[in-house]
Amino acid sequence: MTSMRIRNLGFLPRIGLTALVLTLVGGTAASGYFLYLMQENRDERPGLTINDVKAHYHGVTRTSDLQAALDRGHPESLSPEVRAVLKAWLAQSPDEMARAYNDPDALDLTPMELIERNCVSCHAPGATAEGAHPAVNLRAAEFGAIRPLTLSREIKPVDKRILALSTHVHALSLSLMGLVMGGLMLATRMPRLLTHPVACVIGLGLLADIGGWWLARDNVQLAWLVVAGGAVFSGGVTVAGLMVVLDCWLPRFGKPSSAG
Ligand code: HEC
Repeated sequence: MTSMRIRNLGFLPRIGLTALVLTLVGGTAASGYFLYLMQENRDERPGLTINDVKAHYHGVTRTSDLQAALDRGHPESLSPEVRAVLKAWLAQSPDEMARAYNDPDALDLTPMELIERNCVSCHAPGATAEGAHPAVNLRAAEFGAIRPLTLSREIKPVDKRILALSTHVHALSLSLMGLVMGGLMLATRMPRLLTHPVACVIGLGLLADIGGWWLARDNVQLAWLVVAGGAVFSGGVTVAGLMVVLDCWLPRFGKPSSAG
């Protein structure tokens, strides 16, 4: 067995192996960064969250800016009643929203009046109230002027043909990468207690990740499978790479073997 060990390779092959492993691990990091840039804006809000993954593999409803602001408790000063009225208004169709916006026959305050009273001090060009945000203008005599801020819409998942192409590319290349790194790791002298579980999760992680791409199409919660599987796979490959490099360069323990 010992003759198969990586540490028993000559100096030059160990240099080459180390360079290859570093390139591979670097490549994993680069594809992680590429994914981040690609997916970060899938839900059309900044920052990479589970929602981006859900949007990509399942599709999501992108809530309107006004809805999102009200949902996250903005502004704090708003009374629960008014918040509820505005949310109910936003839940309607665009036509209904337009009709109700400044409906002259309304008995209660119209959405326009509620926005005038509660939002415009901060949200109008030149607003100077403390904590104002004039970049978002909510002063609008006509619904049309704030319409874009009120529209929720569907974000479609990635096209099936593109997903199939991506599966084809990634399933083949990543499984080979997992096989190579896992195999190399198993040829190190690192303890089995470490290498065996890592070899196991590299495989399961990749299966969960790529399987999740397809399963999440029907069940949005399975987007977590993509995230967890991807994290476990790339973490596992990185750990395996680290062990291979360490094994290349750590001094031999115990009785030296004949090869080398
Ligand atoms: C005290 C000032 C103040 C008031 C009142 C206020 N806002 Fe804002 N608003 C801000 C500031 C500051 C930001 C930017 C920082 C942030 O997002 O919290 C903002 C951001 C927003 C955004 C940007 C999108 C987002 O979700 O970040 C929307 C939409 C918005 N407000 C809607 C409203 C509505 C609707 C009201 C009234 C019901 C309102 N605001 C009242 C200060 C205010």
